[in-house]
Amino acid sequence: MSFDNKSHWEGIYAIKKPAEVSWYQTDPAISLELIASTGVGYADKIIDVGGGASVLADKLLNQGFQNLAVLDISAKALDYAKERLGSRATAVKWMVADVTEFKSSEKYNLWHDRAVFHFLTDKSDRKKYIQNMDKALNPSGHVIIATFSINGPLKCSGLDVERYSPEKMKVELGRTFEFIKSVDEGHMTPAGKEQKFTYFYFRKIG
Ligand SMILES: C[S@@+](CC[C@H](N)C(=O)[O-])C[C@H]1O[C@@H](n2cnc3c(N)ncnc32)[C@H](O)[C@@H]1O
Repeated sequence: MSFDNKSHWEGIYAIKKPAEVSWYQTDPAISLELIASTGVGYADKIIDVGGGASVLADKLLNQGFQNLAVLDISAKALDYAKERLGSRATAVKWMVADVTEFKSSEKYNLWHDRAVFHFLTDKSDRKKYIQNMDKALNPSGHVIIATFSINGPLKCSGLDVERYSPEKMKVELGRTFEFIKSVDEGHMTPAGKEQKFTYFYFRKIG
């Protein structure tokens, strides 16, 4: 039987609480710093792709951002985030979808992805992701993608990942996106292991 990505992720969130997964963060500090550095306004549209149960949406709501969307392949992951936010969850647009199949009905000013793109080990899936991202972004839209670093782990959640350096990510995103900067992070997992991440900030050209 072929691999079912949705079942895989629903299965993970069925057995693990948000604070038990290796990618858990109490403070998505680098994401918040990079988002602030883009200069996006509180009314601008921001999408967190593969946001899962991350607290990024909570933190952005706290800061005053009003047009947030979170997309994830796992409904269970989004349920965790919605439960945590309580009545504030209605201020966020929640979408259960596979990012490689995502045809956005809206245009966003900022696309954020921490630890989703690196699961796309097939070139055709990466191509679909980048096309969908391009179509979902306004001209000059901001892109923040965090992956395992080029010397980071080979697997996450039992799945193979593709690791990136700035040079490799530039080739991947192609000429439609201008590289602005990258930031390295040593992420400490709840089990106390360090994982090397790199955050890439690009801007859509035109
Ligand atoms: C490693 S977790 C990162 C979660 C979150 N971004 C964070 O930093 O806490 C990867 C997330 O991507 C979701 N995911 C995996 N493949 C996906 C896909 N093809 N489309 C949308 N979401 C996906 C998973 O359900 C999971 O919530």
